[in-house]
Amino acid sequence: MRGLNRPERSVDTGNEKTNAASQVPDMDTYAHKLYLSNFLREPVIRSAAQALQLPSGSRGLDAGCGIGSHTLLLAEAVAPAGHVTGLDLSPGFLIHAREIAEKSSLSEQVSFQEGDVNKLPFDDDTFDWVWSVDCVGYAPAEPVPLLKELARVVKPGGSVAILGWSSQQLLPGYPVLEARLNTTSSGIAPFIKGKRPELHFLRALGWFSEAGLEEPRAQTFVGDVHAPLSDNIRSALISLFEMRWGEPQSEMTQEDWAEYQRLCQPESSDFILNLPDYYAFFTYSLFHGKVAK
Ligand SMILES: C[S@@+](CC[C@H](N)C(=O)[O-])C[C@H]1O[C@@H](n2cnc3c(N)ncnc32)[C@H](O)[C@@H]1O
Repeated sequence: MRGLNRPERSVDTGNEKTNAASQVPDMDTYAHKLYLSNFLREPVIRSAAQALQLPSGSRGLDAGCGIGSHTLLLAEAVAPAGHVTGLDLSPGFLIHAREIAEKSSLSEQVSFQEGDVNKLPFDDDTFDWVWSVDCVGYAPAEPVPLLKELARVVKPGGSVAILGWSSQQLLPGYPVLEARLNTTSSGIAPFIKGKRPELHFLRALGWFSEAGLEEPRAQTFVGDVHAPLSDNIRSALISLFEMRWGEPQSEMTQEDWAEYQRLCQPESSDFILNLPDYYAFFTYSLFHGKVAK
């Protein structure tokens, strides 16, 4: 998701002890944010996986798997005979991914490997499909060579899918404030600043065609939440607010910063998540295509 595609940061576990989601021990801050965010994201990512109709028994790759939240979800989709490999650049994330997988009923259906999506450590035609959430197409890298590299490891006729967080409305009743917060350098701006329009994630259909993938398709999935919020969803939203807008930015006016603090900080008496009619939604966009036979 936007804002999560940052380098892994070092240790900090201490300050979320009262949250239900802090029951996962020893996660550094960024891994913990990924973990929390999945309470929001999982239903919508699951819908996207279902739309792909991954064949039962197939073998796939989750490229840029993070702590493996979706590696397991994919393994469930291709169970019992299928297998999913999670690949990530970060050894720290992979430690968490392995720990979480070992505690699940799908530990035999997944494996994790360190590696770079730019140069995958796999032979040509290794997998039936590959997918990537909030990784390929998000970082500043040129997307077409990346898609070609993903396609290289997929068998002819198999599919390549990339998903990315594509929009949100998290501050109901404050659309202009939210729009302004999103133009700061911790909001959407770093993902679009200086980028050629055709390199923006929502232009991915063009990348698929350019990479020689057939039948390029796009579909957008909505996730939504409303009051009363579970502890996990509440923790996920608090983490999201803080990650995206939680530090004063040079582009932010003092008034907007004060409004952010009033609405988005849990200690405020006007904290937006305490609204009895709180409602929010966000979208994930899925782009996929087939490797030529
Ligand atoms: C925003 S996280 C998404 C993780 C996971 N897909 C999810 O949605 O929970 C982006 C992930 O991409 C990984 N990543 C970034 N660049 C990478 C690269 N060149 N090769 C492999 N993984 C990479 C990061 O380490 C991180 O785990």
